[in-house]
Amino acid sequence: MEITNDIKYVGVNDHEIDLFEGQYLVENGMAYNSYVIMDEKITVMDTVDANFKDEWLDNVKAAVGSESPDYLIIQHMEPDHSANITYFMEAYPDAKIISSAKAFVMMKQFFGTDFADRQIVVKEGDTISLGRHILHFVAAPMVHWPEVIVTYDAYDKVLFSADGFGKFGALDVEEDWACEARRYYIGIVGKYGVQVQNLLKKAAGLDIQTICPLHGPILKENLGYYLDLYNTWSSYSVETEGVVIAYASVYGNTRKAAELLAEQLKEKGCPKVIMNDLARCDMAEAVEDAFRYGKLVLATLTYNNDVFPFMREFIHNLTERNYQKRTIGLIENGSWAPTAAKTMRNMLEGCKELTFTDTTVKIMSALNEESKTAIEALAEELCR
Ligand code: FEO
Repeated sequence: MEITNDIKYVGVNDHEIDLFEGQYLVENGMAYNSYVIMDEKITVMDTVDANFKDEWLDNVKAAVGSESPDYLIIQHMEPDHSANITYFMEAYPDAKIISSAKAFVMMKQFFGTDFADRQIVVKEGDTISLGRHILHFVAAPMVHWPEVIVTYDAYDKVLFSADGFGKFGALDVEEDWACEARRYYIGIVGKYGVQVQNLLKKAAGLDIQTICPLHGPILKENLGYYLDLYNTWSSYSVETEGVVIAYASVYGNTRKAAELLAEQLKEKGCPKVIMNDLARCDMAEAVEDAFRYGKLVLATLTYNNDVFPFMREFIHNLTERNYQKRTIGLIENGSWAPTAAKTMRNMLEGCKELTFTDTTVKIMSALNEESKTAIEALAEELCR
């Protein structure tokens, strides 16, 4: 696949993977992107996952033909991109690695060598000329690890964006970009909104015509759409108006409360109501929804004087990703000492700019007239 006259795609599709990064379901697989820039100095951008060593090396060979790469640029040391560095260096003994100082430290940790006599260390603002192509290196710490650099090719106006602008899904499957890019972003980079904002500010000064991420499709058209979404996500702004009801229920009584609330929200004209049964849904989808929509209702039974484990995991997933700037409603259930609302509030204590509804719904075992009235009041508040 040619991206420009000089830049070729040499990445791979992974349909064997069960869990990406050990936790994310990827029904449509995953792509590990890698690129070759053909110029006086031939340059390979990143490697791919360990399981695809041979396919990737074959792709590189096919792209460079009878020539040999001069440089391997490593933008990110997470093994889905760095696993094949050693094999590449063996295959091309004259090649040098260009990367950040922190990345070389990690190389030594992962591979026992930092290729001391074959390394070129770059930092923010450095450039390297390949001939026609002048590569500018931009530090992107914590997008998604501390060593990350992204690379701007001023000749073809391409931003090699590392994990930024990536998504789940192999490239041979057609699917909506935003849905799986959002789940990917919130799950993997969501904690680092400030750092992504910093990178977006640097990117704003560049004339970018193409974005080449390390996962997901190459973005060539309507780049403003993708940049706007990244700005929304990384600033923790509300992307879509609506209410997410995330619930955990054992015998169905808390679920009935969640369903009643959903019904009333719809009746009152709430633009969008999303229900997530935390024991059964994809946790990453539920987390994505919480970050996408403006309002979140947490409904759970009290369990071992705490909240039900799936709710605890869900809230932990939110707080570790700097969940903020949202409206929260709480529904608790308990048969003798309901304390779940207090526990949930405490768990969310460190989150910035959360607004709790005045109404908190308390259910004693099952819905009754009193708790139904409270649900109505909660629906009213959430629709205001
Ligand atoms: Fe795609 Fe952070 O590795």
